[in-house]
Amino acid sequence: TRADKAGHKHFMAKEITEQPVVVAEAIRSYLPTGGDEVVLPGNLDFSKLDRLTMVACGTAFYACLTAKYWFERLAKMPVEVDIASEFRYREPPIPDRTAALFVSQSGETADTLAALRYCEGKADKIVSVINVPESSIARESDIALPIHAGVEIGVASTKAFTCQLSVLLMLALKAAADRGTLSDEDLADHAAALRGLPTALNTALDQDPAIKKSAQRLSETRDVLFLGRGLMYPLAMEGALKLKEISYIHAEGYASGELKHGPIALIDKHMPVVVMAPRDAVFDKSVSNMQEVMARKGKVILVSDDDGIAEAGDGTWSTIRMPHIHPSLAPILYSIPAQLLAYHTAIAKGTDVDQPRNLAKSVTVE
Ligand code: G6P
Repeated sequence: TRADKAGHKHFMAKEITEQPVVVAEAIRSYLPTGGDEVVLPGNLDFSKLDRLTMVACGTAFYACLTAKYWFERLAKMPVEVDIASEFRYREPPIPDRTAALFVSQSGETADTLAALRYCEGKADKIVSVINVPESSIARESDIALPIHAGVEIGVASTKAFTCQLSVLLMLALKAAADRGTLSDEDLADHAAALRGLPTALNTALDQDPAIKKSAQRLSETRDVLFLGRGLMYPLAMEGALKLKEISYIHAEGYASGELKHGPIALIDKHMPVVVMAPRDAVFDKSVSNMQEVMARKGKVILVSDDDGIAEAGDGTWSTIRMPHIHPSLAPILYSIPAQLLAYHTAIAKGTDVDQPRNLAKSVTVE
């Protein structure tokens, strides 16, 4: 085979554990040592751009949704995010001073490539974030930014997702620097946090036994709800996607604040709810949503840090402890428990983790 499992039972397990190394590589290649400045190939000056349109499919789409929060908050740049299959046929207008950004692990997804071609001659710059530098999407972009994840074999994307997120965060920091929207101190804090990320990812991986226990419980259920707020909302959707892809358990990701607008009707003692909530600025609101779940006997798995678990861990079904992290980086770190929950649930159910039924690694036809 062109890659081996390096002692792991599945490519997915290997790829999950590789993340501290490949994310470090991604960070090193855009944030050279000795400075806080993000350095990109090609000339991309965000001070000459007014907005960003991001397009992707699947897991890469959730990476884009996360990046929207970063670009808007850090670089004060309006961002639209779209699913490629919708974007390509809607004939969306592309205003002046727009950069179009395409995210794709394979660089060959048919809908994403078609969306890129739609933007040719319309967008000021076509940028892609890809894992395969020789891919069609990379070749047809003005600037292609490799994520350095290495070959990903597992159909359910893991290390490509965290590398995509890392590159997108650095891109947002570059935009913030170009546009003068963050102080030098803030930029330096982000750079330092990024350099500390691989260590934090390792600490998160050490939580594997606790995550496995929670997964054992999930494997006996029929539906699972994932909740997140702010930066953790796209990750809630990615966690749900991972779980349904490989364990075939029905899962949905929701913004915590939307709980009252529908999903709360489903909550009873059979419903596990995974709450992704670091102790950040919106934590108290997430906790009150979580309490609404518990009041209806829903079973909460709280993924948080020491402070969050100390404050809100009582009465939960289980807790998964993450190290403290700069709030901007939380979705990258919390990807680890999302992936491991799906992985161990699938193992407990005995499904084919690396080759889930009906799914393809790369969707090159419509
Ligand atoms: C398929 C894969 C997913 C992937 C999506 C987009 O559905 O199974 O893991 O996220 O395609 O693929 P891309 O290569 O464009 O990132």
